[in-house]
Amino acid sequence: MTKILVVDDEESIRNLMQMNLELDGHSTLMAEDGLTALEIFKEESPDIVLLDVRMPGMEGTEVLSRMKALNADAEIIIVTGHGDMDLAVECLRKEASNFLTKPVSEELLSLSVKRAEEKLALKHKLKQYTRNLETLVREANLELERAYQFRENIIENSPDAIVCIRKGGEIIIWNSASEKLIGYTKQEVVGKMNIVEVYPPGVAKQIMKYLRSDDFGGPGTLQKIEVLVVHKSGKEIPVYISAALLYEEGKEAGSVGIFTDLREKKKLEKQLLRSEKLSSLGKLSAGIAHEINQPLTGVLTFAHLLAKKFKDDEQTRKDLDIIVRETTRIRGIVQGILDFAREMPMQKKPWRIETVVEQTLQIVVNQQRFFGIELVRDYDPDVPDVVVDANLMEQVFMNVILNALDAMSGSGTLTVRVKRNDDMCDVSFEDTGCGMPDEIQDKIFDPFFTTKDSTEGMGMGLGLAVSYGIIKNHNGDIAVTSQVGKGTTFTIRLPLDNT
Ligand SMILES: Nc1ncnc2c1ncn2[C@@H]1O[C@H](COP(=O)(O)OP(=O)(O)OP(=O)(O)O)[C@@H](O)[C@H]1O
Ligand SMILES: [Mg+2]
Repeated sequence: MTKILVVDDEESIRNLMQMNLELDGHSTLMAEDGLTALEIFKEESPDIVLLDVRMPGMEGTEVLSRMKALNADAEIIIVTGHGDMDLAVECLRKEASNFLTKPVSEELLSLSVKRAEEKLALKHKLKQYTRNLETLVREANLELERAYQFRENIIENSPDAIVCIRKGGEIIIWNSASEKLIGYTKQEVVGKMNIVEVYPPGVAKQIMKYLRSDDFGGPGTLQKIEVLVVHKSGKEIPVYISAALLYEEGKEAGSVGIFTDLREKKKLEKQLLRSEKLSSLGKLSAGIAHEINQPLTGVLTFAHLLAKKFKDDEQTRKDLDIIVRETTRIRGIVQGILDFAREMPMQKKPWRIETVVEQTLQIVVNQQRFFGIELVRDYDPDVPDVVVDANLMEQVFMNVILNALDAMSGSGTLTVRVKRNDDMCDVSFEDTGCGMPDEIQDKIFDPFFTTKDSTEGMGMGLGLAVSYGIIKNHNGDIAVTSQVGKGTTFTIRLPLDNT
């Protein structure tokens, strides 16, 4: 039922209209002047108003303006007398829906109200559509946002570093894995750094060249090649890179690159190579050493006999002493090789590892080479026993300690630490000696690699190779960090549940 307000100062007109409207099935409200009409309009919110323009008190035009201000959607039909054309035009300008001239016939009134009702229904429908449309747009936006967020998440949480650049090299995407791999944060990189700064000189250009060529997976793509990236600290890191050019409207707009860290793989490869090298060399040298041992024993025995025979001939005895000394040295080397290659069953049992360290230290602390060296002990008392062959472990610790003493040549600090590290026990020896450059660190576990002058009988280059083998047989690991001029730390890591 449509609610209609009739505003007219003439009672007879009001009554007539009321009768006609109610006959048509509408509900009506009556007002005899502008102010009353506004009151009712506010309280009852009629859908349609039939408004007389000529009334005492507030003019119809004023009432119209106020009603429109209260509800712009209200349908207001103006009712005018003859000769009020100008007024009617003004009302239409003020968005009255229609105007009727008095006397208003029954049919015309019905028709006008019907039109107004249709207009109201249309407006209502339009509003509904707009509302639906708004909901749809909001939902579509949400969906888009979700899809975008999802893609962002995939990029952000990828275990590989993902980097996106604009043409020219400006970095625009830098995910968490990139932060971890290359060291710079998003804030330091996005919009601020160029991709060129992430590679050693010339590499970025080379990669772009590969990307645009046919040879690495077709034009626009680059499939998995090995390159170096430069960490924030300046250190070069080996990675695999796969990349693709990005296009916008057919034009090259940038590129995306995925980096996989190769450090762990390289380390494993190196270890594998090292153990293969060690085992083949071990087998070969064990055979040779065995063969050499017997004639050596003969040489030594006869040299001793001769020395006895010529004990009064000083020159000859001196010469024979040299033979004995040098042959003894050869025998030492041969013994070292045999130790290195031997595969004897180990005598493992649980030990407090600091006891083994202490036993080793007891042998060296009173030697002259230890004078001038400060010894610092840092043992964690809560480390459980470790199952080891104590003799072999002493051999390992001894070699690392002697190396440290050699590196410090008479002054410095040796810090020995025993610490628990999850299910491993770390024994580390830190010296303040000469340190080693990277090229040397790469070779120290190779058998016979030494920087020591072996003519003085000092280094054979077997200490660390032998230690490495022993530690591997204990399912452990040995790692080194070193800085030239500052010192070196060797860390021997042994499993705690090793039986
Ligand atoms: N703490 C250290 N500081 C500096 N350089 C070291 C240290 N430990 C080892 N090195 C380097 O590693 C090389 C190899 O060590 P390794 O113990 O295998 O052989 P070596 O000491 O030379 O000879 P050997 O142990 O057979 O007497 C050494 O010659 C030295 O150059
Ligand atoms: Mg050594």
